[in-house]
Amino acid sequence: MANKTIYRLMLNGFGAVGQGFAQILRDQGERIAQREGVELQIVAVATRSRGCVYNPAGIAPAALLDAIQTGSLRDLEGARDCDPAELIASVEADVLVEASPTNLQTAEPATSYIRAALERGWHVVTANKGPTALRYTELKALADQKGVFFGIEGTVMSGTPSIRLALEALAGCEISELRGIVNGTTNYMLTQMEQGRTYDDVLAEAQRLGYAETDPTGDVEGHDAAGKALILANVLLNAGLTLDAVECSGITKITPEAVTEAAAAGERWKLIARVWREGEQVRAQVAATRLPVSHPLAGVAGVTNALCITTDLLGDVTLIGAGAGSVATGFALVSDILALHRLS
Ligand code: HSE
Repeated sequence: MANKTIYRLMLNGFGAVGQGFAQILRDQGERIAQREGVELQIVAVATRSRGCVYNPAGIAPAALLDAIQTGSLRDLEGARDCDPAELIASVEADVLVEASPTNLQTAEPATSYIRAALERGWHVVTANKGPTALRYTELKALADQKGVFFGIEGTVMSGTPSIRLALEALAGCEISELRGIVNGTTNYMLTQMEQGRTYDDVLAEAQRLGYAETDPTGDVEGHDAAGKALILANVLLNAGLTLDAVECSGITKITPEAVTEAAAAGERWKLIARVWREGEQVRAQVAATRLPVSHPLAGVAGVTNALCITTDLLGDVTLIGAGAGSVATGFALVSDILALHRLS
């Protein structure tokens, strides 16, 4: 296709999500360019401990992925010794692809990176739950003021389009409740524990597969799901809640015996997030729950997530799909850039 639009990307963070994004560009970049009329060109990558690199001519995703296997980006052409904030302040790019580790307590340093990029007039797409859960209103207002795009699709259900479904396809409906399975790690663990495997063994595997957070405590104690419940409440229901308003418990007390006992009763444990309107208020809760195996959410296995959205005009709309993983979340970042391209 002639006249492709080029988007110069600065990737912040090159862990599982950043690498999944680079894999997609390496393996599917040509197809996406032909089909969508966009060229997604990585010009800068920042990490906090594995070096930074800037090359205005573009950095091949394959070269980045090869380099990171050595543990560092420092041998690449254009390698720099600086931190992400310095790179955002000094390079020329169009989009910040923010994929640094999540902090649900402070939302930092990612919020500062996003703010700095928006201030520079860059679009921002992010899979980072901290800034989205705690600072969405402020960051979206800044993006609107600057006339740029702020995409957050990857923050809930990875690349499965939950945010876009609710904000765009369901625009015009009144959403009264959302409930579902929004943490892939714990759903994977609970499913594997039903096969008789131990908690520690399956947690280690979920980490190896790139599902878990950098600190997996956030997954198993329910905080990751609480952050996502907060995003659903604040972005979709305009609730203005803070994290401490989300009643939260995780799966740390679910023993193999508890899993067996539930199975004997024809039930399964699931970590269920729920956000709902109650009068003028919005409430949010995350809790391990025993569901009958006949319940639609009980059949959602492994790293798969599900979200049931209750609306006035359509009744319940249920979305089932990938909830975590490097390529699944990397895809969310690609889909946000394509969404911003379609708006341009
Ligand atoms: N740790 C998260 C999960 C990653 O397991 O769902 C996706 O947000």
